[in-house]
Amino acid sequence: MQKLRRFLSLATAIVIFITGTAFVSNAQSLTKDAWDSYYAASTEIIDAAVMMTPGNNETERYISWYSDVDSGSVTLLDATGNKAGTFTATAKATPDGDHRLGAVISGLEAGKAYSYYCESGDFRSDIYSFTTNNNKSFTALYTTDIHISKSDVDENAIRDKAYNLNSVITAAVTKAALKGNTVDLILSAGDQASDGLRDEYVGLCSTPYIKSIPFATAIGNHDRKSVDYRYFTFQPNTAKMRLKSYVGTDYWFIKGDVLFLIMDSNNISMGDHRRFVKAAVEANPDVKWRVAVMHHDLYSARIPSRESENEMLRLMWAPIADEFGLDLCLLGHSHYYTISNVMYNNKTVAATENGGTVTNPEGTVYMVSGSINNPRNDENVGLSENIGHAYLTEEKIYNLIDFSEDSIVINSYVLESDEKIGSITIEKTTDEGGHVYKTPAKWYYPLVEVIGFIAGFFNNIGRYYDNTQLGYDIPLFEGLFG
Ligand SMILES: [Fe+2]
Ligand SMILES: [Fe+2]
Repeated sequence: MQKLRRFLSLATAIVIFITGTAFVSNAQSLTKDAWDSYYAASTEIIDAAVMMTPGNNETERYISWYSDVDSGSVTLLDATGNKAGTFTATAKATPDGDHRLGAVISGLEAGKAYSYYCESGDFRSDIYSFTTNNNKSFTALYTTDIHISKSDVDENAIRDKAYNLNSVITAAVTKAALKGNTVDLILSAGDQASDGLRDEYVGLCSTPYIKSIPFATAIGNHDRKSVDYRYFTFQPNTAKMRLKSYVGTDYWFIKGDVLFLIMDSNNISMGDHRRFVKAAVEANPDVKWRVAVMHHDLYSARIPSRESENEMLRLMWAPIADEFGLDLCLLGHSHYYTISNVMYNNKTVAATENGGTVTNPEGTVYMVSGSINNPRNDENVGLSENIGHAYLTEEKIYNLIDFSEDSIVINSYVLESDEKIGSITIEKTTDEGGHVYKTPAKWYYPLVEVIGFIAGFFNNIGRYYDNTQLGYDIPLFEGLFG
């Protein structure tokens, strides 16, 4: 295995030398057998679960990993391999008795190649390469419902589901390279893990891509099924809320000309979400695009039994998208691929179609992608009239989103058949686009704030009860308020 690792490191170095690309994984050519060998022989590296999360902006990267000791650091190297900085980690004690360390790499320059490694106690990670973007154009991979799952009957379930994730990212990186692009960001709209367990998040991080491409995750309902997501994550600009989920909260970051708002749609304390979005928008007045990533599928109506819940969620979330002129909301939860029409005030204001372009849309486009490990294709699916394009498949979907100053271009593909299944372009000729906001009645926000807080509080009681039943020792106040 030493040999395989050495070979893969060398292959990576050669590819980076030749292409100068942001990151080409050493795992991209791995067959399932090679992946299984890598998994079996890399226990220490896999268990550390090193992950790169976006920083506040392109000058930063957030790096986190599990450690037996409560101190450590990240060493940054420049393109020639010289030391460019050392960044001290902070520590979060985990319920397992060890720590999740987090260090912020800062002071990065645009358009430069770097590498880094993590150290804590006797542990030293591999060296991981990455490149910063040098202009406002970049490409993101949007995925959702990765569902890394543990299984009582299959001891290799996590390893095998992690292989599927690695394969999807490999396909995305390869597809982007055909256009001369690199995948510069991965957006994941929740349900990264099926039971919210540490072992599942460790499996999630086993793909080498997640150590070199900033990986931004939203909280899915499955991520709240245990407590480990609370310790696993390390994110910039996190929201302080009156009421939040025990496992996490909203956060934002800037990349290119885009403000990304990663929100926890499990928490319906809408006053808190509105204050978060308002503060993020006001802190970044010159950023042109506003893109939300959160878990719940609001508009597809693919799962009819969820429509009463979705109706309530639409009433809660749509006014925020309308008020702050969100251009695009990337969602998950249903596991069904759909792209909505342009929505405003919970109504279609302009149709979208596959391959089409909307220019200065007077509203928001909502998109949902399929699940990587639990794709659905039931017979009795519904479909809302508010959906412009939908595609049913039990195969794995991935979406490449090209962000630039003038447009957001989404292209969707199926892994197994390599078929292109959808595309849409959103163009804006002004910073505001065509969003025209009409303030709801004065009573609307206070009412939604009160109802959301009460409903969110009772929801947290349920989660607190479930987690204490699982044996976790959670302080009552944090269990109820986050
Ligand atoms: Fe899911
Ligand atoms: Fe879900």
